[in-house]
Amino acid sequence: MCGIVGYIGKKPAVEMLINGLKALEYRGYDSAGLYISGEQCVRSIGGVDNLYKKLPKGISGTAGIAHTRWATHGKPSEENAHPHSSPSGSIFVVHNGIVENYIDLKNALEEQGSVFSSKTDSEVIAHLIEKQIKDGDTFEESVVNTLKIIKGSYGIAVMNTQEPEKIIAAQNGSPIVLGIGNDEYFIASDVSAIVKHTKTVLYVKDGECVVITPTSHNIFTINLKPLNRKTEEVVWNTEQVKKGGYKHFMLKEIMEAPEVLKNSARGRTLRETGDVKLGGLEEIADKLTHTKRIVIVGCGSAYYAGMLGKQYFEEIAGIPTEVEIASEYRYRTILQNKGTVVLAISQSGETADTLSCINEANNKGCLTIGVVNVVGSSIARAVDAGVYNHAGPEIGVASTKAFLSQLEVLLLIALYIGRKKNISSSEGKIIIDEINKLPQKITRVLAQNKKIERIAKKYAHSKNFLYIGRKYSYPIALEGALKLKEVSYIHAEGYGAGEMKHGPIAMIDESFPTIALIPSDSVYEKTFSNIEEIRARDGKVIAIATQGDKKISAIANDVLEIPQSLELIHPILTTVLLQLFAYHIGVHRGHNVDRPRNLAKSVTVE
Ligand code: AGP
Repeated sequence: MCGIVGYIGKKPAVEMLINGLKALEYRGYDSAGLYISGEQCVRSIGGVDNLYKKLPKGISGTAGIAHTRWATHGKPSEENAHPHSSPSGSIFVVHNGIVENYIDLKNALEEQGSVFSSKTDSEVIAHLIEKQIKDGDTFEESVVNTLKIIKGSYGIAVMNTQEPEKIIAAQNGSPIVLGIGNDEYFIASDVSAIVKHTKTVLYVKDGECVVITPTSHNIFTINLKPLNRKTEEVVWNTEQVKKGGYKHFMLKEIMEAPEVLKNSARGRTLRETGDVKLGGLEEIADKLTHTKRIVIVGCGSAYYAGMLGKQYFEEIAGIPTEVEIASEYRYRTILQNKGTVVLAISQSGETADTLSCINEANNKGCLTIGVVNVVGSSIARAVDAGVYNHAGPEIGVASTKAFLSQLEVLLLIALYIGRKKNISSSEGKIIIDEINKLPQKITRVLAQNKKIERIAKKYAHSKNFLYIGRKYSYPIALEGALKLKEVSYIHAEGYGAGEMKHGPIAMIDESFPTIALIPSDSVYEKTFSNIEEIRARDGKVIAIATQGDKKISAIANDVLEIPQSLELIHPILTTVLLQLFAYHIGVHRGHNVDRPRNLAKSVTVE
């Protein structure tokens, strides 16, 4: 997720662009850049302040575009920062989104003599627009014809030195909003960059483009058919806009789940053959497929994601897999050799214990892989190969959307390997179909938000919670307990449901509620018995069951439901429910769920 700003009017564009980027920094902050008509393009690594310091004195001009980046392709660096320019330097583009077919497009352009200066997917857009103009298109035609060639998502703004008082913007999957002021116009990724100057906006829709000049604004379809669109008045303030109108980043990031699952799988599943495409693993595919052993390392939620990854790798990829808590593993006598693959899971890519395990594995000659959200982070740079989550920046300290993305990416990696081994095309298609249905199924889970809030408040006074689950649900029971601990400060314990009678059941009474994960799966009856054991001791049970389960309401005090899916997909659906449950209890208890006490977003110390 990146931030885009464009301005045309009578005021100095540099101030408008820089202030607009600062309002959008929560969308991405690893590098930034701007282009102002008649001036040079300036780009910098780091936040918007670094860009501002780098601007030459006296930069003038009243029209420009700017970008603050969240890297998806190509590490955070000055050459990978936007705006990207075309070979002749006449076209400047800022882009938010993913060009799925950029490799093919880039190869074709290079064969025709194009020379690229970045490692990004976005740069191909500038090259293609210039090529279209050279082929005789107008500026507008060149932009829309380019957008018809690229596959994937975009929110873009484009400028052309030959028409310096014009900005063309377009949207498909990444938001663009047009702000209409007094003889000035704004383009931005969201209204937080605009609302200080005007509250009159026009929300661009997918497949539309807008053209602004100092005295006009027009909106078109992707075929340049003029459209009439009513303007709207913004009612949010800047802070509310950054949170998408939600009260907290944590809730916003939970609600982003459908989009995150789409982005994490975008361009990576081949429905026709049941295959998975992971460009970041191509070079080591053979070694990975034939390894005798995978060791997954991570901390906290990442470790719990690894516990599910182990089941995926053993069942789908057919590779013996261990999961290790990084802070333990790094101090043990580690039996690793060249045949071992060590896979690190880390949202931040900066967790010291996890990074240390990777460095040690590299020293021992192991193949190291990363599942990381922050592009260009230390772990992403330390591993031999990896798969980025594309979950976008996660601002809330308690991991939600990143954890969800980790589960999906681990499933994709397992299928990627499995299809090179014993998983048939039809088996692969079944899993991919369910992955493709996940965004709509997750939306149905999120639709229960009010019911989850009501049940959460009913139990918010509890001093303890037990979370139980079996098989694929066991790691999610652990993660659900962690989420509750982090944002509500209540003691919560995740446990294998089958293990409960070996001790923890002694804690159960009417004041000690249990969250039981009991989707309709191969261990349903066993978990059902565990719930009955709890109820026989007056323990209250909140069951997370599958829609259509007619038995569960007879024994559970409260029931929350997930849509039916493949058994191995259930954990992704139950995770979102538990995130909302923890969120509402934390809020109800008056805590700052975005910044819980004692926690940090990235644990870069041991
Ligand atoms: C998750 O809610 C926690 N904030 C924490 O457990 C986190 O998952 C852990 O610190 C690992 O962080 P990483 O994914 O950035 O490596």
